[in-house]
Amino acid sequence: MKYCLAAALLSSLLGVAGCANTLSSSPGSSAATLYDDLGQGPGIAALVDQFLWRLADDERVNQRFAETNITRFREKLNEQFCVLSGGPCIYTGDSMREVHAGHDIREAQFNAVVEDLIEAMESLDIATGTQNRLLAVLAPLHGDIVAR
Ligand code: HEM
Repeated sequence: MKYCLAAALLSSLLGVAGCANTLSSSPGSSAATLYDDLGQGPGIAALVDQFLWRLADDERVNQRFAETNITRFREKLNEQFCVLSGGPCIYTGDSMREVHAGHDIREAQFNAVVEDLIEAMESLDIATGTQNRLLAVLAPLHGDIVAR
């Protein structure tokens, strides 16, 4: 069944280019943000794609995405990572509580997804400090994603 997600992901990757909601970066800014350290829009796009491939291949969680619109998921993840890392984007997706409510997501599944994200960051040689900063801005979402 993981191939359903992989196939949807593949067509999504081939059919969609770029992050429509990424605005051009302001020329006057100087301090490097997490967004900069992730490689801005292109770096985040590469990370999201690596992350999605790993989710598709992960038997612990890929069934959960069997009904998911991967094109939308990919776009919203790009926006979310951009916004949370301080980038010039707008998140147009639904709230984490709304999206994940009813999916009965368990702690072990949340941890599996985080592991996949770490593997994706490792595969792109993202510095450990940068990885930890991204994980730190995602951590507060835990309470809205994992079922009580
Ligand atoms: C740090 C952890 C996570 C983040 C940042 C995250 C983020 C997101 C985002 C941005 C969306 C798209 C929202 C939208 O379409 O408006 C989404 C959808 C979804 N997420 Fe997560 N998620 C996380 C963990 C998980 C886990 C652990 C699972 C299950 C194992 C999961 C299952 C899903 C599913 C099934 C959808 C699609 C829902 C639908 O189409 O109705 N997520 N997530």
